[in-house]
Amino acid sequence: MLTEFELQANGSTPPHFHDWEHEIYVLDGAMEIVLPDEERTEPVGTGDVIFIPRGEPHGFVTGPQGGCRFLVVAPSERPPVRSVFLSDDPYEYTQLAEYAHARRNSAPARDEGEQAEAMRIHGIFTAYLQSKAVFTALELRVFDILETDTFTMAELARTLDCPLRPVRALLIALEGLKLVKRDGERFANTAAASRLLVSSSPVYMGGFAEHQNRHFTNFARLTEAVRTDVSITQRVLKEGYRDQGAAEGEGREGTRRLHEAVRVSARLQVDQLAAAIPLDGVARLLDLGCGSADYTVAIAQAHPDLKITGVDYPAVCEIAREHVEAHGVGHQVDIQPTNIFEDPLPACDAVLLSHILDGYGTGQVQKIIAKVYDRLPKGGKVIVHSHMPSLSTSVFPSVFGLILLANTEEGEVREVTDITAWMQDAGFEKVDTRAVSPLSGLLVATK
Ligand SMILES: C[S@@+](CC[C@H](N)C(=O)[O-])C[C@H]1O[C@@H](n2cnc3c(N)ncnc32)[C@H](O)[C@@H]1O
Repeated sequence: MLTEFELQANGSTPPHFHDWEHEIYVLDGAMEIVLPDEERTEPVGTGDVIFIPRGEPHGFVTGPQGGCRFLVVAPSERPPVRSVFLSDDPYEYTQLAEYAHARRNSAPARDEGEQAEAMRIHGIFTAYLQSKAVFTALELRVFDILETDTFTMAELARTLDCPLRPVRALLIALEGLKLVKRDGERFANTAAASRLLVSSSPVYMGGFAEHQNRHFTNFARLTEAVRTDVSITQRVLKEGYRDQGAAEGEGREGTRRLHEAVRVSARLQVDQLAAAIPLDGVARLLDLGCGSADYTVAIAQAHPDLKITGVDYPAVCEIAREHVEAHGVGHQVDIQPTNIFEDPLPACDAVLLSHILDGYGTGQVQKIIAKVYDRLPKGGKVIVHSHMPSLSTSVFPSVFGLILLANTEEGEVREVTDITAWMQDAGFEKVDTRAVSPLSGLLVATK
């Protein structure tokens, strides 16, 4: 039996299991599949196919950004009919861990719905402690040290040359965050920390942590920025990036540091984008504002017949070229220093704008779109990849606008509707959208 389901924004089914399997096909939108046994959720979006085995506890949850329509295949005869619900409460995807923990450990509250909401809000209020614990551990190289051996608290305190009490507090925090694990008296990195938080790992996330940690002092002035609309760092000015991505006084190191951070975020989106990007009939792609070239390289690798020109400011092109050369795709990818407002754009039959438009105000965005329109042949495509809240399942795209408020003079998070209107005003005819990763969506406009 094939049934169509629709979950609206902020919708959820209680987690449950039953004696039959499910095959699911997502028609449109995005949601998370909640797997209580594994204490994790799996984001899914348009076109995804999911198999849920019999007996596997599961639930479906949408976020504030939009709903999801999906088809479910289940046997029409279901003997013996047995469906077990694990909870009657709806809950939101941002609080799954706290929710599961609260259900396991607390006596039933009088109003569980309110209790769960209060827990969720408590989690929001104290989230900064989680970030700060990890930023400090990274600054002190705790994960690098724990990668060499297991340590007692006292041994780690001696190695760090720090007093015991703060090291104990830090280790307990990291244990609670499941980044270190304890065996008797001794501490070690968890598998996730070994892979993602040790500086020698190829997928080290420390660059992103360093960047977010720098935001901390800036965000002490967020209320003032909301009141005055004055950018705190002015990293991106109305007419372009200050000093090619560096904040005031940071020099070239600042450009490099910014791109190390962008690169970590790119790794969470790049494979999905390389797979989702519609490049049928495209021989030359222009990656406008290619940054560290992480997307450029991944797309080149996924499409070996494609030629790509990546353009960015000169100092950023140096970083992009290093990445292109390190991955041996120099025969496919050409990196050209270009100011996208002032210089002519290279020939192409599709343009990728990945995380470009958000940094600028409406007037500048419209200038970029008009310039891209003029450069494209009839039938050419512009492909916008960005943190569009309605096409994403994580909460980050919704809060990203605050980073833009702090760092840019006019930047804003853009929604599908904003970008579609600009594309139509510029003359593009057909506009399609789809979810790409938990952090991003894709909008494709055809001339
Ligand atoms: C947020 S980064 C995105 C980089 C990459 N496309 C990605 O998705 O990771 C924006 C990029 O656009 C570049 N950019 C912004 N304005 C530009 C301009 N006027 N000329 C050249 N590059 C520009 C910046 O230097 C930066 O590398």
